[in-house]
Amino acid sequence: MEKLLIRGGNRLTGTVKVSGAKNAAVAILPAALLTDETCVIENLPYINDVTVLAEILSELGAKVALDPVGRIIIEPYYVNKYKADYKMVKRMRASYYLLGALLGRFGRAEIAFPGGCEIGVRPIDQHIKGFEALGANINIEKGVIYAEADKLVGTEIYLDVVSVGATINIMLAAVRAEGITTIVNAAKEPHVVDVANFLNNMGSNIKGAGTDVIKIKGVEKLHGCNYTIIPDQIEAGTFMIAAAATGGDVTVDKVIPKHLEAVTAKLLETGMKVVEGDDYVRVIGMGLPRCVNLKTLPYPGFPTDLQQPMTVFLSVADGTSIITENVWESRYKHVAELRKMGANIKTEDRIAIIQGVESLTGASVSATDLRAGAALIIAGLMAEGLTQIDNLEHIDRGYERIEQKFIKLGADIERATVDEDGNITGSSLVV
Ligand code: UD1
Repeated sequence: MEKLLIRGGNRLTGTVKVSGAKNAAVAILPAALLTDETCVIENLPYINDVTVLAEILSELGAKVALDPVGRIIIEPYYVNKYKADYKMVKRMRASYYLLGALLGRFGRAEIAFPGGCEIGVRPIDQHIKGFEALGANINIEKGVIYAEADKLVGTEIYLDVVSVGATINIMLAAVRAEGITTIVNAAKEPHVVDVANFLNNMGSNIKGAGTDVIKIKGVEKLHGCNYTIIPDQIEAGTFMIAAAATGGDVTVDKVIPKHLEAVTAKLLETGMKVVEGDDYVRVIGMGLPRCVNLKTLPYPGFPTDLQQPMTVFLSVADGTSIITENVWESRYKHVAELRKMGANIKTEDRIAIIQGVESLTGASVSATDLRAGAALIIAGLMAEGLTQIDNLEHIDRGYERIEQKFIKLGADIERATVDEDGNITGSSLVV
């Protein structure tokens, strides 16, 4: 087993380069199946969700060359399967995009229900409603979703909830459908726009991505393309919060500052300094944060994926902060871990009440999900003493070489191997 060991107390300083957006990448890779020509995708984060997807695409028959420097070449011409079983998809949530992509390409898809983070009931009823509205028959049997359509025909689809996944999945199925598809109450996240841009580069006709009404005029054929993925807004936000939480001075580089406005505004409200450049934001910690209230919302609201890091930061605020988690109903699993480190947080349903404490203390904690893992790293960087984090597979699904990026900023953090008896060997942080 591996653990992250962190000796807290160091101020983070310097520059960190943000990787490509995970949530765009996990949709763009399946989207490449919509053509039979070669797609070259750059600025790809080298994370487990991407390597797993690359494996799935090659099991479907595509020729795939994944380069750790952040490029993938996909030759979907050879794809000859429209099925992905549980063994293939269980390691990632976003495998549901294979449904839209294979349905769009072959008019058929058989995909097992996805895995991914345990952050609440994760229904896909809106995806299914969209596929059915386009003319597909959907059956769910023994954990497998069977989708089939003689032909897909554009129509208007109103989403009951603002769903990133449903918006993207319906776009994937609709780009080659007959006629016009309109998605009303669509998600506006930057990665929705990125996927639409990728599809348009392939010859699709999508208008309105980034607003709550997206219009897709179906085209007969898509072609290959070269595409560069946008920077990861959540990774950027994670480093921004970490900089503030350690009283540091960090330039988060190669980002789109507009995508970070909600985080920037909240950090300013806590009394931190944030300087925006064309493609960077610099965050300067200004001592303990002022307490603030925060509500997570779909974009351009405060992203739920940064709620957990923010909970950590506010755990040492001057006063009581209240967080309302409006997107996922069960996204406070990290709180139990934070309590082990001395945080004073009460939760009830979607609300967390954080009574600021003087400091956190290092402890052995577990990454319960991807963003909880990132939050616990920040907690470890802030805490006095040694923090040990296990369950790293969650963190590795979504962050590229996270400890190496923190080391470059001056953190005392290392990945260590733990033997069956729980002994950590070869670590400079455990004495
Ligand atoms: C994506 C992100 C995830 C982020 C979330 C919200 C990816 C791979 N993951 O997840 O990191 O936390 O957006 O920004 O991009 N819902 C339904 N029915 C559906 C679909 C969703 O009721 O068919 C509900 C969900 O339960 C949730 C809300 O809608 O309460 C938002 O979910 P959604 O935007 O779909 O999240 P994901 O796309 O799964």
